[in-house]
Amino acid sequence: MAKDLTKQQETDENHGTQVLEEGVHHVNNPVLDLPEIVKNYLGPVAGYHQENNNYYFSDGSASVEIKVVSDEIIRVRLAPKGLFLEDFSYAVPQSDQHVAVYNFEEDQLAYRVKTNTVTCVINKADFLVSFEDREGKAYNKDYAPMHWEENPDFGGYYVYCTKLAMASEAFYGLGDKPTHLNIRGRRFVNWNSDTYSFQFHQDPLYRSIPFYIGLHEGDAYGIFFDNTFKTYFDFAAEAQDQTSFWSEGGELQYYYIHGPHMMDVVKRYHTLTGTHYLPPLWALGFHQCRWSYYPESKVRDLAKNFRERKIPCDAIYLDIDYMDGYRCFTWNKRYFPDPKKMIKELADDGFHTVVIIDPGIKVDENYWVFREGKKNRYFCRRGDDYFMEGYVWPGRCQFPDFTNAEVREWWGGLFKGLVEAGVAGVWNDMNEPAVFGRGTFPNDVRHNFDGFRGSHRKAHNVYGMQMVRATYEGLKKLFQKKRPFTITRAAYAGTQRYASVWTGDNVATWEHLRLGALQLQRLSTSGMPFCGTDIGGFSGEPDAELFTRWIQFGVFSPFMRAHSAGDTAEREPWSFGETHEALNRKFIELRYKLLPYIYSVFWEHAKYGFPILRPITMVEQRLEGNIQREEEFCFGDKVLVSPVLNPGQPNKMVYLPVGEWYDYWEDRLLEGGKEHKVDTPIDKMPMFIKAGTVLPEYPVMQYVNEKKIDSLKLVVYHTLREVNSYLYEDHGDTFAYEQQIYLEKKFVVKGAPDRLSIHQHVEGLYSEKYDTYDVYLAALPFKIGQVKVDDTLVSAEPDATGRYLIKVSKDFRSIQIVGQ
Ligand code: GLC
Repeated sequence: MAKDLTKQQETDENHGTQVLEEGVHHVNNPVLDLPEIVKNYLGPVAGYHQENNNYYFSDGSASVEIKVVSDEIIRVRLAPKGLFLEDFSYAVPQSDQHVAVYNFEEDQLAYRVKTNTVTCVINKADFLVSFEDREGKAYNKDYAPMHWEENPDFGGYYVYCTKLAMASEAFYGLGDKPTHLNIRGRRFVNWNSDTYSFQFHQDPLYRSIPFYIGLHEGDAYGIFFDNTFKTYFDFAAEAQDQTSFWSEGGELQYYYIHGPHMMDVVKRYHTLTGTHYLPPLWALGFHQCRWSYYPESKVRDLAKNFRERKIPCDAIYLDIDYMDGYRCFTWNKRYFPDPKKMIKELADDGFHTVVIIDPGIKVDENYWVFREGKKNRYFCRRGDDYFMEGYVWPGRCQFPDFTNAEVREWWGGLFKGLVEAGVAGVWNDMNEPAVFGRGTFPNDVRHNFDGFRGSHRKAHNVYGMQMVRATYEGLKKLFQKKRPFTITRAAYAGTQRYASVWTGDNVATWEHLRLGALQLQRLSTSGMPFCGTDIGGFSGEPDAELFTRWIQFGVFSPFMRAHSAGDTAEREPWSFGETHEALNRKFIELRYKLLPYIYSVFWEHAKYGFPILRPITMVEQRLEGNIQREEEFCFGDKVLVSPVLNPGQPNKMVYLPVGEWYDYWEDRLLEGGKEHKVDTPIDKMPMFIKAGTVLPEYPVMQYVNEKKIDSLKLVVYHTLREVNSYLYEDHGDTFAYEQQIYLEKKFVVKGAPDRLSIHQHVEGLYSEKYDTYDVYLAALPFKIGQVKVDDTLVSAEPDATGRYLIKVSKDFRSIQIVGQ
């Protein structure tokens, strides 16, 4: 019927009076006058005004806000009817950074908002927005004016932004999308989803990180589309010359983040969304998980095996079966009669206990958490005020509205019992949120959204983030001085402030090992630094070789945890026979040796926003040949690895960036800027150290702090240049570092063919527990003639591997080594 009327309307030139087929006259029928729903595009700019660092441009009805956030970051917002939504973001706690200098210019053709680094150009005739550097090089340009379409079902608008995709532009980021690093030619959707046994290219998965990096002619910029609704991204997939992002609701609001270095784009993204706090050192050790270890005797047996077999481990996980009927914050007393005693004894043996907590609260009037939540109206409700009920592990459940600050506070307090029992970390799962049978909540579920209210369409992608935020903040309060450890499956941009993440329910296949390497590199470039995969694959059965290769990759995963589903064979590092037990031990030990380096890399992230893993394209973004490289990557800036991703692989080609590198296993010097064929027997994984590095190493320990370190080992790799290395040290598990109670040591290494010098600069207020360093000089290209430490001659002893050992005070200022 409506369609017929429209047809009639189209043919009728008299808009006031419509003549219907039957010849009946309807005067001013409002239905006939309804405008069609169409995409609206911004028209020519009609004028502008300024309020501090915000500039407002209008086409007469729609408005665009251009906000100078910092020298390198500009935010763009669109208000289709001229009224902006309230400025609130879960991702960006504070969008007013300190703005240095900005100014404004206008000529006949355009307006220009300028900072010291970026110029945002707004074309008058067509309202196209573009971003240029100081030299006028365009980094990012609109292809079409921003546009929108009314959403008659839910209100608000579908909002769209279409940018020009330059001919050779490559795209990176976007969270954990399980695909190649360069996402050009692909389209994605962000809608957190429980995706058991996901596949290559599957989309969406568990997390929504609407942030990408464009790289063109060696220059990079970032776009962060801060919109929590279902968002879409098209990277030159539909049209070769266009990149679009759009959403089913909310505001068209994005940040342009200038480079030109990819690393700087990521660092600046972190200035908006925050970094991961420094994890407790133990959380960087090896974690053992399985669905599930129970009863208590099984957990004890597991712990005993680790210690007896001398395989280092710092954390044991309890999956859902530790609870009473899967009721969160309870214990199954038949399986765990005295959890406090068990956790204490595990802790005495160096194990931290991490427990799972899901969002579904069992509907059960005899269960205190349910009663409290019900009484206080903390559970989510449907559009018509019914409770949101659905089935998860405990059966029929209701779900806290974590977007309500009061609910978060309550939730945080619920951990009291677990913390008193000695739990050291919490694992939040199923928080997409996952609901059996129907996937997730229906759209009409209502959320508080921190007072800004919304349906599940708006809150879905932040539900998991707000859950783990509540968990983290609750634990932080309960622990008082100690750093909690938290891990979440679902996330939105900014979740890194509260938790680490793992990639969810992967599969025990070689393809998934490869995928893991891609996903962790991608997460690292998307602002989720503390990430890992289920080592060995969650579902399915890995063979011994795959498991060992996965452990090797795990050493260089920011988060290192083995996990497996309940219907798989038992899977611990010793489950594959003695040969592989020894191999797995060797690599877990390597993780422990590298801990002081790994911890320092995490410090560089926490303090300065550097990513932990760095794809080769990020290290050398100007070399076009690197765009397709995705197997080798750097961990921090001194270690490069290339995990072995195929069965029976005897060797592999590894590209080393320009410069000089040492093969970690034999101190062999290799020239960078090209590929090398590297042998990959099962007991080796390609691993290289940058020339000039000072690599700190711990002795092998069965768990963090097992041994008192009397003298810290520093391996110094010869160089012909000047290279800085950093070592960060502190208590390892308190927040005292926020009060400068830490040491940041800088080692400056300078070398020539016949000499090498090392200078140390120390900042901070912490006191290390050791007095000396064991400095090992690796790969010296000359025979030592003389060694001076702070003007005193000392002797250097060669060891069996050809390295020289010098014992020096931890307070040394300089070491000078001269050849014969
Ligand atoms: C989900 C998680 C998995 C966990 C299981 C049982 O599948 O992704 O890690 O073991 O639930 O809690």
